[in-house]
Amino acid sequence: MIFQDIKLENFRNYGSQTIAFHDKLNLFLGQNAQGKTNLLESLFIMGLGKSFRTNKDSDMIAFGKDYARAVCHVTGENGENEIDIVYQKEGKIVKVDGIKLSRSIDLLEHVYIVVFSPDDLKIIKEGPEHRRRFLDRELCQIKPVYYSDLGNYKKVLRQRNFLLREKNPDRNLFHVFDESLAEYGCRIAEERKRFTERLQELSSRIHSDISQGKEVLRLEYETKVEDKESFRYLLDQNFESDLYKGYTGFGPHKDDLKIEVNGTDIRTYGSQGQQRTAALSMKLAEIGLIKQETNCNAVLLLDDVLSELDSSRQRFLIESMKEIQVFITATEIDPEVRRLLPQGYEFHIEDGFAKMLT
Ligand SMILES: Nc1ncnc2c1ncn2[C@@H]1O[C@H](COP(=O)(O)OP(=O)(O)OP(=O)(O)O)[C@@H](O)[C@H]1O
Ligand SMILES: [Mg+2]
Repeated sequence: MIFQDIKLENFRNYGSQTIAFHDKLNLFLGQNAQGKTNLLESLFIMGLGKSFRTNKDSDMIAFGKDYARAVCHVTGENGENEIDIVYQKEGKIVKVDGIKLSRSIDLLEHVYIVVFSPDDLKIIKEGPEHRRRFLDRELCQIKPVYYSDLGNYKKVLRQRNFLLREKNPDRNLFHVFDESLAEYGCRIAEERKRFTERLQELSSRIHSDISQGKEVLRLEYETKVEDKESFRYLLDQNFESDLYKGYTGFGPHKDDLKIEVNGTDIRTYGSQGQQRTAALSMKLAEIGLIKQETNCNAVLLLDDVLSELDSSRQRFLIESMKEIQVFITATEIDPEVRRLLPQGYEFHIEDGFAKMLT
């Protein structure tokens, strides 16, 4: 799929502007704090109605205004679609071709996006919640039913935790929660496991190419979840300690994704370069996975990452984006790198305005 254009109104620091895009490369250059990431964010929300930077929809609304709006045209497998998202204080309204969607998840039929930003190193370096969020985000894109399973799981988990913190909780109520938790929890763990296996296949090949065959990347989903029966059994076993702690200590919300290079845990022992290569390999593998799963080319958003990579990784990344539409932000671009980039449009971003350079 590709984005043809976007129209912004009161979106973050943008006033009112329509921007037409090149179907291969769009380069956004500008000083810090001018609106480069905001522009990528306006594209990203077209996938799920949500940002990659914040959970608060109201953050999209320009300071002092009472709504924000972003309207784009995308071309994909099923022709052209218009996506129109309005954020208001009371909530958001999402429309495709003028028809209001009751669930933002339905947007995903139209838009597939892979975003790579310096923050993605957190997936490698920081706590397991970053790796779970990575798996969840990617799975939601390619499997809408996962999105609803995850939502249901989180809801039941919140209710169970709430009940655990009550003074004299009714024990019978736990049976109902535990049954649902086991049902959704098993499905989530199973999907994450399967996704990890396929991601491992693609990303290890990419990682090996980038490292010229010197490094073997291995991903493994770490979980104690097996099946519904054992899930319920473990909830039972842990009941007293859950009650004592006031939260549920077992389930996929505790799982992790193990990332190893040449047999050692990259989080603790990997060099910065190895960690960057792994993050890049996993992101590029996502593009391949989306293609396999949906037969769609994802759009790639690269927020400030080119300058963070050394020249061989930059070259590899640029080689990988031949078939897809790419949006790149940077404060400046090395002439060497510029020469490698495909033809496209270049924009200068200043104070919430994108000026196309000709
Ligand atoms: N809701 C909002 N309304 C108005 N301005 C906002 C809003 N949210 C963020 N901004 C402004 O947008 C600017 C940041 O934009 P953005 O993150 O896109 O910068 P950037 O060009 O990517 O900078 P950098 O190179 O530092 O990453 C800040 O000046 C911030 O104050
Ligand atoms: Mg930025």
